[in-house]
Amino acid sequence: MKPNRIQLCSQWLFERFPLNKLWNEHMAHYYAPKNFNLWYFFGSLALLVLVNQLVTGILLTMNYKPDAKLAFDSVEYIMRDVNWGWLVRYMHSTGASAFFIVVYLHMFRGLMYGSFKQPRELVWILGMLLFVALMAESFMGYLLPWGQMSYWGAQVIISLFSAIPVIGDDLALWIRGDYVVSDATLNRFFAFHVIAVPLVLIFLVVLHLVALHELGSNNPDGIEIKKIKASVETEFHPYHKRSQLADYQLLPVDGIPLHPYYTVKDIVGVAIFLLFFAGIIFYAPEMGGYFLEPANFIPADPLKTPEHIAPVWYFTPFYAILRAVPFKFAGVIAMGGSIGVLFLLPWLDRSPVKSIRYRGGIFKKALLIFVISFVSLGYLGTQPATANAVIAARIFSTFYFSFFLLMPIYTSWEKTKPVPERLTVQPTWEQRIPVIKAIFAEMISSIEIQNAEGQITKRYKLNPQGISKVFIRLAKNIKASLE
Ligand code: HEM
Repeated sequence: MKPNRIQLCSQWLFERFPLNKLWNEHMAHYYAPKNFNLWYFFGSLALLVLVNQLVTGILLTMNYKPDAKLAFDSVEYIMRDVNWGWLVRYMHSTGASAFFIVVYLHMFRGLMYGSFKQPRELVWILGMLLFVALMAESFMGYLLPWGQMSYWGAQVIISLFSAIPVIGDDLALWIRGDYVVSDATLNRFFAFHVIAVPLVLIFLVVLHLVALHELGSNNPDGIEIKKIKASVETEFHPYHKRSQLADYQLLPVDGIPLHPYYTVKDIVGVAIFLLFFAGIIFYAPEMGGYFLEPANFIPADPLKTPEHIAPVWYFTPFYAILRAVPFKFAGVIAMGGSIGVLFLLPWLDRSPVKSIRYRGGIFKKALLIFVISFVSLGYLGTQPATANAVIAARIFSTFYFSFFLLMPIYTSWEKTKPVPERLTVQPTWEQRIPVIKAIFAEMISSIEIQNAEGQITKRYKLNPQGISKVFIRLAKNIKASLE
């Protein structure tokens, strides 16, 4: 048969650029474990948010003015006068918080399923570098609206560098380009935020994914699917068009091609995410002062310090650690250490198993305490540093660091469960939905009410007895799974 025009064009392209090879290697012939759960949505969602930030960022740059005299007004201009400017700005500001929500959940998935463990140490390190770059990107972006919190937040954070002995003051001066945060600082932060750090982010994302695809993805069972391979002719691979693969090729029996199986699955995650994202943009873009702080609606005033300076929510756990330590330099080291220790995770964990499903109770309890400490530190970082808040922050910081520093001990002590050879089968959503429905039915009771015309209507109300039963069962289940 004669090839059609599209085939001829693609042949012309593929002879000059290996787009088909790249697509096959990373999508159509990339075999991912077939048991990915909801936690595996967050990697592709992080990519989506990155694209959102890049596109809306470019659009914002078209009307933003990186000048201390004009910056605040240019953002107001975008919000009020530029067509759809308010939407683009809210997509960008909500996108920043969404990025951190998604990335924190993505990292938590890694912690639960031991995705940082051998052989994926480099995937984790590259992820951590992405996290640090993301923090730098959002910190510098936050200065650009030139509001009170932009200005004073930057002032506080940059002044932390001056706590470093000997070189500190000169370093802070070098970063600011002036003795205080000023137009020079705004200009360089703009350059970094708009071009330098996004390039680093894109580059790191590519490295992150190439490193991951070299080894193959981990999964909720923490089993290496590449260990058991079979010829494509076996019953295990009804998924692939036989003609696309070489005859001799062996494929992981517990794997399915990323495309179309996970590309389609990820669309569900994207749709749900966009529902929440749009909901926040349209109905709560400031998120009660957590996504956009009230003080940032006032233009920056170098002569007037706001009463309470707090960074945006995603920095607050680390900010609380900084404030928990009495001496400034020690606080800076503790804050840096709280991020730095995450880089060491692959070497701190000595457990022979990866997934939380087969770990012992100590790790599960430690992880729970870590999560509670991280969230509590996040809350404390948003509050004024009263004596009680500082004591609480010290306690939670101790738990935070203990989770990591004691890890070599408790992960080598604890007894783990045997890990199966093949991926386990978990209940499907078709099986779960009736169970969830039954739980709701238990918590809600209905009464029938007859009106004057004799019509009967059903009214629903919460059933305290049912609710307490459900919660007792939940607590028992949590207790059992922690043992
Ligand atoms: C811009 C930020 C990031 C993007 C766009 C991104 C993207 C992705 C994608 C698309 C995957 C494959 C799909 C998946 O497993 O969910 C992945 C996997 C992974 N990421 Fe990230 N990531 C980011 C940040 C991070 C961070 C901060 C960490 C941790 C420090 C991290 C650690 C990992 C690990 C360990 C895997 C392998 C997971 C597994 O196989 O179970 N990533 N990432």
